[in-house]
Amino acid sequence: MDIADINKKIKRVLISEDEIKQKIKETGKQISDEYRGKPLLLISVLKGAFVFMSDFCRALDIPCEIAFMCAQSYYGGTSSSGTVKITMDVEQDISKYNIIIVEDIIDTGRTLNDVINLLKKRNPLSVKVITLLDKPSRRSIELQADISLFTIPDLFVIGYGLDCGEYYRNLPYIAEYSECD
Ligand code: IMP
Ligand code: MG
Repeated sequence: MDIADINKKIKRVLISEDEIKQKIKETGKQISDEYRGKPLLLISVLKGAFVFMSDFCRALDIPCEIAFMCAQSYYGGTSSSGTVKITMDVEQDISKYNIIIVEDIIDTGRTLNDVINLLKKRNPLSVKVITLLDKPSRRSIELQADISLFTIPDLFVIGYGLDCGEYYRNLPYIAEYSECD
């Protein structure tokens, strides 16, 4: 696609910058109250969640550490879960922390399921999942976030960290992507 046409694919704004800010503020307060005085490590799986992580951690008024992972999942035929290959890992010994996985979107749920299972094997004090977006209609594995900021229908969305062909991550809102011209 020509670079000049990139923005023509933004169909409509689904969730505005203000709506996102407001929800993050509320969730930040809730989590600060819940984890006050506890060792807390926020973990995001790159790249999609980097914008949400950046705003969410700044909505907390308690101390926390931040970590990122890169994961690739491989799935064979009909199996609902695959093997996850970690290409970048958390440095911390997570057995000393309460973990919050900060996700961009839960779609089929398969990647996140593998990441949760892997982290649980390392015996963290607790594990919670917070996702900005949830597409429950697409789930192929039984998995629910502890907190979903927004539930969306089965649409392909872009912006606020989410990409299509690596573009649109820098949009400050969530938009529906237009598949057609
Ligand atoms: P899963 O199907 O739940 O394993 O989703 C894995 C990843 O697919 C997410 O973390 C996103 O990076 C990506 N993804 C799923 N749905 C969308 C979407 O609507 N827009 C952009 N990326 C998506
Ligand atoms: Mg993700």
